[in-house]
Amino acid sequence: MAEWVQLAETREFETADRKYVELSPMKHIGLFQVGGEYFAIEAWCSHARASLVHGEVEGHEVLCPLHGARFDLRTGRHLSPPAVRPVARYDVKVEDGKIFVKV
Ligand code: FES
Repeated sequence: MAEWVQLAETREFETADRKYVELSPMKHIGLFQVGGEYFAIEAWCSHARASLVHGEVEGHEVLCPLHGARFDLRTGRHLSPPAVRPVARYDVKVEDGKIFVKV
């Protein structure tokens, strides 16, 4: 069953717009802040496992740094080739400056 896990604090995003978290050997999460909102997706591209945490962000899209596939940070949906599958996305909530992700 999914549970809320604290991954970060909002103050960490005063100097960065993203954070990589290895929650377990099988669960690596990219936490992004866009316009004051937080989004969490699987950290690895669904095409060939490049790190999306190192990708350029434009609006609510992250660009895979390896071959350029784009993903929607809000849904995890793949928006352009060569990716043909989405990445997992996770619900996010903020409480008292703490950022939680439902995993
Ligand atoms: S590894 Fe991301 S597009 Fe190929």
